[in-house]
Amino acid sequence: MATEVTRTSTAWRNRVGDSSGTAPVEAHHFLREFLRSPRSIGALTPSSRWLAREMVRGLDLADMDAVVELGPGSGALTRHIIQRLSSRTAFIAVEKNPRMAGSLRGRFPRVIVHQAAAEELPAILRSHGLRQVDCVISGLPWANLPGRVQEDILGGVLEVLQPGGHFVAFAYLSGLLMPSGRRFRQRLADSFASVSTSRVVWPNLPPAFVYRCRLNGCQHVEPALGHDAAARVTPACRQS
Ligand SMILES: C[S@@+](CC[C@H](N)C(=O)[O-])C[C@H]1O[C@@H](n2cnc3c(N)ncnc32)[C@H](O)[C@@H]1O
Repeated sequence: MATEVTRTSTAWRNRVGDSSGTAPVEAHHFLREFLRSPRSIGALTPSSRWLAREMVRGLDLADMDAVVELGPGSGALTRHIIQRLSSRTAFIAVEKNPRMAGSLRGRFPRVIVHQAAAEELPAILRSHGLRQVDCVISGLPWANLPGRVQEDILGGVLEVLQPGGHFVAFAYLSGLLMPSGRRFRQRLADSFASVSTSRVVWPNLPPAFVYRCRLNGCQHVEPALGHDAAARVTPACRQS
């Protein structure tokens, strides 16, 4: 009987979660992974529901053919993305941490979870028969990533985004104090036709904001990121 009560209350807590929208068991796994590799995980807790909502605000995900999430972690953003997709949208998540990837697969059967580094995005998509996607949503800790890794991941994102495509990423406010965080901001400004920033989401640990970036319908990106710029000249641009 005591076991039954414990099981029921655990299930209830896992379903209901805390005020941030994160189930305690999820928060616990996240913290454990943070303690194992703090730099790669980048935060003590998963993103709050308020940050997750800010991430998907204004995106017409239901109308998209293919969406990618980078660094889904324990799925704090993933569940908000899934709610907004139509059944025809391909949704691929790329998570480096094997335990998090395994757990995501079990909890989100709707998502194709690929356990790999985000640096390999173009090859990952090719392995699923995809060359271009409408939107890349990033949960990566950009300010913690070395310059070369930032460059490789962003180069891959630019390679796979179709003209007019969206790139959305959160950044912790504290990251702006770090050269790597400011470098990321500059890279976005250099790479996209438009970049806007959201308000600061204070109920998140740590407080964060969102970069919303968009490619032109016909965008030629200079090879500043070490990737083949020709790959990003759209057919329409070539004709003109
Ligand atoms: C700050 S956590 C965010 C997790 C989740 N998106 C959220 O918002 O709660 C960063 C996640 O990115 C993953 N990650 C870090 N570097 C990565 C890389 N190079 N490729 C793929 N995932 C990576 C980590 O394992 C972790 O799950």
